[in-house]
Amino acid sequence: MGLSLIEISHRTKNFEAVMDEARSLVREILNLDARYEVLFLQGGATLGFYTIALNLMREGGKAAYANTGVWASGAIKEAKLVGQVDVIADSSDKNHSYIPKFEVKGDWDYFHFTSNNTIFGTQYQEFPKTDVPLVCDMSSDIFSKKFDANEFALIYAGAQKNMGPAGTILYIMDKEKLGKTGRKLPTYLDLLAHIEKDSMLNTPPVFAVYASMLTLRWIKANGGLQGMEDRNRAKKDCFYTELDRNGLFHGHSVPDSRSWMNPTFRLNDDTLGADFDKMWKEAGVSGIAGHRSVGGYRASMYNALPLESVQVLVDVMKEFERTKG
Ligand SMILES: Cc1ncc(COP(=O)(O)O)c(C=O)c1O
Repeated sequence: MGLSLIEISHRTKNFEAVMDEARSLVREILNLDARYEVLFLQGGATLGFYTIALNLMREGGKAAYANTGVWASGAIKEAKLVGQVDVIADSSDKNHSYIPKFEVKGDWDYFHFTSNNTIFGTQYQEFPKTDVPLVCDMSSDIFSKKFDANEFALIYAGAQKNMGPAGTILYIMDKEKLGKTGRKLPTYLDLLAHIEKDSMLNTPPVFAVYASMLTLRWIKANGGLQGMEDRNRAKKDCFYTELDRNGLFHGHSVPDSRSWMNPTFRLNDDTLGADFDKMWKEAGVSGIAGHRSVGGYRASMYNALPLESVQVLVDVMKEFERTKG
């Protein structure tokens, strides 16, 4: 056209083709049944916390939540604005270093959990089996390994980790579960209104959707969920094998709850921190300082990160042990 994507109207055939392809790639990669709808919206997962409660909790109803970290408790806080929230599992007693064992049995409208706890570095190794509709914040591990999306009533995930640039959030939902709350919703927060308009109710975040479409093509071309799982398994094996072997470090999360995406770890002796920091920075590693609520380090290894980058950090840890051990 002689114009770029961000110069044209989102109502052109050219952008509609982008939106259509992005939505259908999600369907294809996740092998979604026909009852599922896919949306690319704005507001991030933070608005999602409120939106999902508004759309799924009946007037006078209630929902169950698992509190496994900062984002899970954010979701709980927003849902409480809508109705009754029962927290049926909580790992705050040990600074969210583990995924609690629990059963989901009750007459809740839905059960909400956070599949990967980005800040604390824990991740559900398997998803709860229950008759209660499952709702999941997969912002930091969507498309990272094989799972059955058809077991969920609703999945939401901010794009910015495994899918694309910040600015759009993916919603995947069983349409049959919507429109049952008895509540009137503001237009933008009504997921059915977005479905009716094919994710184009208002101006979509065109650049973020376009870049997400390219990433989804890349995921498909690289073996889909199985391909991502193989890639991410190799990365987490590489990192955790070194963490368990190296005498200078320990992990924050317990081994059976370890995140494949965000390993969190600490030096046994914090006084060595300045020397270790100097060494990884000199090796070209960046962004591994831990979140303030955990301290230590967090080596985020989202889909895009190659195994070679994990190997650089592992080599630094080995070298650090050789010089200090
Ligand atoms: C699991 C999880 N949920 C929610 C959020 C918040 O996402 P947003 O900034 O898109 O609102 C994040 C951000 O890191 C996250 O990792």
